[in-house]
Amino acid sequence: MRTDTPQTIYRSDYTPPSYLVDTVELGFDLDPARTVVANRMTIRRNPDSAQREIELYGEDIELVALRMNGRELQERDYAINGSMLTIPNAPEEAVLEIETVCVPEQNTTLSGLYTSNGNFFTQCEAEGFRRITYFPDRPDVMAVYTVMLRADKERYPVLLGNGNLVEEGDLGDGRHYAKWEDPFKKPSYLFALVAARLVCQEETFRLADGRDALLQVWVEEGNLDKTDYAMQSLKHSIRWDEERYGLELDLDRFMIVATSDFNMGAMENKGLNIFNTKFVLANPRVATDIDFQGIEAVVAHEYFHNWTGNRVTCRDWFQLSLKEGLTVFRDQEFTADMIGTDTGRAVTRIDQVRTLRQAQFPEDAGPMAHPVRPDSFVEINNFYTVTVYEKGAEVVRMYQTLLGVEGFRKGMDLYFQRHDGQAVTCDDFRLAMADANGRDLTQFERWYDQAGTPVLRFEARYDEGAQTYGITLYQSCPPTPGQPEKRPFHIPVAVGLLDREGRDMPLTLDGKDVGTTVVLELTQAEQTFVFTGVKEQPVPSVLRDFSAPVILQHGYSDSDLLHLFSFDSDPVNRWEAGQRLAMGRLLKLTGEAPVSSRLSLDDTFIDAMRKMLTDESLDPAFREQALLLPTETMIAEQLEVVDPLAVHMARQFMRANIGARLRSELLAQYEANQTPGAYSPDAISSGKRALKNLALSYLNAAPDEETVALALRQCQQADNMTDRAAALNALIHARAPQAEAELARFYEEFQDEALVVDKWFAMQASAPTTDIAKVRELMRHPAFNLRNPNRARSLVATYCMNNPVEFHAPNGSGYLFWAEHVTLLDALNPQVAARLARAMDRWRRYTPALQQHMKTALQQVAGQQRLSNDVREIVTKALA
Ligand code: PHE
Ligand code: ZN
Repeated sequence: MRTDTPQTIYRSDYTPPSYLVDTVELGFDLDPARTVVANRMTIRRNPDSAQREIELYGEDIELVALRMNGRELQERDYAINGSMLTIPNAPEEAVLEIETVCVPEQNTTLSGLYTSNGNFFTQCEAEGFRRITYFPDRPDVMAVYTVMLRADKERYPVLLGNGNLVEEGDLGDGRHYAKWEDPFKKPSYLFALVAARLVCQEETFRLADGRDALLQVWVEEGNLDKTDYAMQSLKHSIRWDEERYGLELDLDRFMIVATSDFNMGAMENKGLNIFNTKFVLANPRVATDIDFQGIEAVVAHEYFHNWTGNRVTCRDWFQLSLKEGLTVFRDQEFTADMIGTDTGRAVTRIDQVRTLRQAQFPEDAGPMAHPVRPDSFVEINNFYTVTVYEKGAEVVRMYQTLLGVEGFRKGMDLYFQRHDGQAVTCDDFRLAMADANGRDLTQFERWYDQAGTPVLRFEARYDEGAQTYGITLYQSCPPTPGQPEKRPFHIPVAVGLLDREGRDMPLTLDGKDVGTTVVLELTQAEQTFVFTGVKEQPVPSVLRDFSAPVILQHGYSDSDLLHLFSFDSDPVNRWEAGQRLAMGRLLKLTGEAPVSSRLSLDDTFIDAMRKMLTDESLDPAFREQALLLPTETMIAEQLEVVDPLAVHMARQFMRANIGARLRSELLAQYEANQTPGAYSPDAISSGKRALKNLALSYLNAAPDEETVALALRQCQQADNMTDRAAALNALIHARAPQAEAELARFYEEFQDEALVVDKWFAMQASAPTTDIAKVRELMRHPAFNLRNPNRARSLVATYCMNNPVEFHAPNGSGYLFWAEHVTLLDALNPQVAARLARAMDRWRRYTPALQQHMKTALQQVAGQQRLSNDVREIVTKALA
């Protein structure tokens, strides 16, 4: 915890490291109360640097000894300033030997070396390695590591490191050792070790070139019944990367280790991925379809990092999206390919669009808005954001949209050819894409350096006589902090035209047949494209497949939207039309909710929903997406002044109205989409469950004895967590009197399954029946523990971010709860605290009375004497 004023770091200040490290030998004497780390590294002056001092970072570690070329350095030989140790007048080449001590059992930050359930784990991204030893802890310093682990044999039978196990044995004194060598140069943030009592599922797997690799999934004893899906996902990922990108596993061994104390989802340490248990452990009894999907995606994501992140890494942390945006894009494509069907792909795309609207657009419009490649930060941990990850993935996707799948692959190949083993920038990636395809992608850089969500608008004119259809596209982008003025982006806009019957019209542009979907390249603020040979007035389908991360302001009439909702061959835009139909009505209802006691919904809308619900030609998974309403957050984003209660009432009204008016159809779908037989998380079955459970939740938005009985029966008879949790949620949200007993039974049955207990807390934290008194009561439950990030998130963050009505209670009680817990958490784990702090991002959009309370709460946190850089940066920017 630092109390000095936080420093802003600027991308433009980048300078190369003064010294490079060739080899690192680390020795660990692992003891939870006092771990001794011996670090011997060979270093040499960097010819690209003018600087002559050796610069090493160290944080929260005790320096015991420091030797250079065999000579003990005295205090006058070096200086320690904050977290920087400098050695002036250093020779051209040197062997540095550093001995430090740290206290893993007291490390609640979960960065560096820490203990979890008595086991040792490390987390080094972004700047955790400096909490283990003094080191030039920056990603452009890449070295070869050898690691010796020594620990008590009884307590820590398993000793794991990066790369290959080269030696292990007994030390005689009840301790044992293992020596690991990683043959690949890597940045320090990819270092990892594990010393633990764990068991593994393992398998040898034949790689494309005929080599056999050993795959392992390590978990605590008792969890081996939950590792199959992670192992299977890993094998699929390896295959996919071989086939799609020609990229192979470069090690003989690949390990996944699960820990229940982890700040993020998982970490791509070379050959030794460390995972939050949430993204490893699953079986039908404890995990939902969404959990299974999450595991497949995260296992793939971390595995794909081995090439996009590890073999080619980031020059500095401003380039984070170089690896994250690209790797998210890769895991998204993997997920889509794993499903295989066209609608299946579309459903994954719709999920991505939903995430952008739910989280990234708000971020891009708020006080933390930043470019995909930020220009500055105070704390890098605050920049593992939906912008860097998900918008970054959209930016990568746009290359593929502009260059084609083959062109994109050529760009990837050139990228690896040029940069394997290097630490590079987003520009290097963009240039590889451009050069491999002979394209000028200069303007495309603006996607990396301008924050904010571009707004796209179009006007179209049909000339019956000339049979032309002219479409004029306009773009603009609102100001964001530090960027008042924006220049036009290079935006791929995929367009199709529907005829009166709803069929795709063949398109002719500049005299060329361009199929039925064409990608228009908008590079100016305003540009017109004229289609010729257009036989009748079409309905345009604009931004097909969500071809760019923009807000499309539409001027569609209801009848245009209904036409698109019924016929668009592009499933994403078909879904989109339904969202727009719903959003228009939700905004109107929100305006009426505070003043009118009689809200109503038109037949047109209900009929459209009915048609969609009962269209058996469409996959259940797609119908579920099409019937799911925009969230309260998405509605709020459309409003200048947000009254969360009005938004909630409007959406609840719509849900109840759908539930009541489509009752018989919903009941029929509920029955038709049962999935008898053994549970399987595949896309078809999970799509059926999703539609069935959406039907159940709509029915219970207008609950009566029969709908509650359905939910109760499902809750009591379900043989899988997807159905069990959905039914329990339906009971809770219907405020059914039986909910209480079912919650108790749920806890009773799953109290030994930490991840299910998280669900139990989260269900209650997000329930409309959970007020501030109830949430505080839950905090006193014996199973609650603020130190465990998953648990803290399940209750505290869920209440603050997923229970808008209670969180925004008019008396400000939710905000005070927030301030209290941001402060409490900050003393334990600044990263978790800073994530919670972001619940206030959009405070300026709320009604004046709420704003006042929110500001007070923000000031209360900002006024704390001792505050991490992490939380300080968030609240300072919010109040600025
Ligand atoms: N690099 C990890 C990922 O995206 C995320 C992470 C960041 C994990 C920082 C831990 C700490 O896969
Ligand atoms: Zn990642």
